[in-house]
Amino acid sequence: MKYLLSLIHLTTLAASSAIQQPLNEVPHAQVPLSKKPLVSSTALQDHITSDNLLKRAKKLFDIAQLGVEEYNHPTRVIGSDGHRGTLDYIYSTLSELGDYYELSNQTFDAVVGNIFESRLVLGDGEPTSATPMSLTPPTKNKDAVFGPLVLVANEGCDASDYPSNTTGSIALIKRGVCAFGDKSAAAGKAGAIAAVVFNSEKGSLSGTLGEPSQYHVATFGLSNEDAQPFIRKLIDGKLIPSSAYIDSIVHKAPTTNIIAQTKGGDQDNCVMLGGHSDSVAEGPGINDDGTGSLSLLEVASHLVKYSVENCVRFAWWAGEEEGLLGSDYYVSQLSEKENLKIRLFMDYDMMASPNYAYQVYNATNALNPTGSEELRDLYTEFYKSHGQNYTFIPFDGRSDYDAFIKHGIPGGGIATGAEGIKTKQEVELFGGVAGQWYDPCYHQLCDTVDNCNLDAWEVNTKLIAHSVATYAVSFKGFPKRTGVSSTAGVEKSLYHGPKLVM
Ligand SMILES: *[C@@H]1O[C@H](CO)[C@@H](O)[C@H](O)[C@H]1NC(C)=O
Ligand SMILES: *[C@@H]1O[C@H](CO)[C@@H](O)[C@H](O)[C@H]1NC(C)=O
Ligand SMILES: *[C@@H]1O[C@H](CO)[C@@H](O)[C@H](O)[C@H]1NC(C)=O
Ligand SMILES: *[C@@H]1O[C@H](CO)[C@@H](O)[C@H](O)[C@H]1NC(C)=O
Ligand SMILES: [Zn+2]
Repeated sequence: MKYLLSLIHLTTLAASSAIQQPLNEVPHAQVPLSKKPLVSSTALQDHITSDNLLKRAKKLFDIAQLGVEEYNHPTRVIGSDGHRGTLDYIYSTLSELGDYYELSNQTFDAVVGNIFESRLVLGDGEPTSATPMSLTPPTKNKDAVFGPLVLVANEGCDASDYPSNTTGSIALIKRGVCAFGDKSAAAGKAGAIAAVVFNSEKGSLSGTLGEPSQYHVATFGLSNEDAQPFIRKLIDGKLIPSSAYIDSIVHKAPTTNIIAQTKGGDQDNCVMLGGHSDSVAEGPGINDDGTGSLSLLEVASHLVKYSVENCVRFAWWAGEEEGLLGSDYYVSQLSEKENLKIRLFMDYDMMASPNYAYQVYNATNALNPTGSEELRDLYTEFYKSHGQNYTFIPFDGRSDYDAFIKHGIPGGGIATGAEGIKTKQEVELFGGVAGQWYDPCYHQLCDTVDNCNLDAWEVNTKLIAHSVATYAVSFKGFPKRTGVSSTAGVEKSLYHGPKLVM
C-alpha cells in the first residue's frame, strides 16, 4: 500500500509538465523504478529517527510476550512463539513494501539443547559450582553416574593423553589447544562416563560443545580455583570417588532465515548485511539483537523510495545465539557462483547498549578477505564525520560474519558492547559508567525496550543507512572478489557465536 502511494506521487510529479496519463496505462514494471531517484547516503540517513526505532522496539517487546506462555517470561528464542512472531513481523513488514524486494525464507534444522538439572560432586564434599556445557548430552539414562576422577595429560586433545583407566571414570581435562567439543569426544572415545574441563584462566568456565557428536559425553566446565585442590590430590595419587549428573536434551528443530534482495541493481554485485532475529531463552533480546534486526527493517523500508545501482541483500538470521546456525547454514549452501556475487557482508548485532561504546570490528586485510579493511575504514570515517569517537574490538568469531570471512567474503561490522567492562578511558570517549558492563542486561530478562540507548541506536542506524547507500551506488575503489577460500579463521578463535568454544 505504501509503495502504491509513493508510486502515484512520483509518477504525478514526473508527468506534471506533460500530458497527464491515466495511471493504469503506465507500463508497470519499468517506469516506477526508473523514476525513483538514485539512493544517496544523506537522503537515506535523513529518514532515520529514534522515534521510528522506538516504535518498532515496543512492537518487538509485545511479540516477545508471546513467549510467556511456554517460558514464563518474554523471549524470542528459536522454537518459541516469540521467535515465530518475530519472523512474521519481519516478513509481513517487508511484504507490505510491495514488489521492490524478492523475499525468501530459508528453513533449516537447528540444533537446540536444553539443560534441566545438573550436579557434579567430587570426593565426599558438597556439589561443586561446575556449569554444564551448552549442547551437552545427558549422563547415562539421565541418572547420576559414579566413577573415580582421573586427570588427563596435557590438554586432552589427543587419544594418547587419556590413561587406560579413563574407562568408567570422570575425566578431568585442562582448557586450551582444542575445542571443548573435541575434548568431550576424546573423553567419550576413551570410555569416560563424564568429563570436566577446568579453566586455565581465572574465573568460572561456561561454554558450548558446539556441533553434536556421537562420542560426546556429559561435560561440565569448572573454575581453575575449584579444580586445583582436586588436581593436587590426584597428583599425590589419592583416589577421588565422584559422581556426575546431567538431565538434558539435544535435538533438531526447524527454524528460518529471512532474506530480502532488491530486484533493482546489478544482481551479480550485491552488498549484503544481516542481523539476528532470535534472542536467548532468558529474555526478550530487545538490544540483542532486536536493535540490529529493526535497524535493518527500518533501512529496508526507506530504501524502497530510491533506485540502486548494485543489489542490496538483507538477512535476518535465526539461531545466532545457539552458535551462528543460520549464517553458517546460509553460507554453506552458496554455490561458488553465488558466493562470488556477494561483494561484502556487514554484521549489525547490538546497536544500542545502554552503557555503549561505538565499537568497530578490527577487520584488517592482513587477516581477512581483502575489502574487510576498506569496510572498517568506512565505519571509522563515518564516526569521525559525525563527531563521534570509536574503539576497535577483536573480530573474533562472536557474530554472524564468521562464515562469510571463512569463505572468502570480505566482512565487518559494528557493535556497542555486551558483557565487557567499560574503562575510565572509554567513559571519556563515550560517557557512561566505568567498571560496568556495556550492556548490564546482556542475555538477561531485563533486555527490554528500556535497555536501549536511543541516541546510540539512531547514530548506528544512520551508519547502517550510510553503508547500504554507499555500496548500493557504487563499488568503485572497493576490491574485487578473488575467490571463495580464505585463511581467515585458520587460527582457531575462542568463540563461534556468543559462547566460548575453546
Ligand atoms: C516465510 O516465513 C514467514 C515467517 O514465518 C511467513 O509468515 C511466510 O508466510 C513465509 N512465506 C513463505 C512464502 O513461505
Ligand atoms: C589412573 O592411571 C594413572 C596413570 O596410569 C594413575 O596415576 C592414576 O592414579 C589412576 N587413577 C585411578 C583412579 O585408578
Ligand atoms: C587491528 O588488527 C591488526 C592486525 O590485523 C593489529 O596489528 C592491530 O594492532 C589491531 N588494532 C587494534 C586497535 O586492536
Ligand atoms: C571524544 O573524546 C574526547 C576525549 O578524547 C572528548 O573530549 C569528546 O567529548 C568525545 N566526543 C564525544 C562526542 O563524546
Ligand atoms: Zn547478538
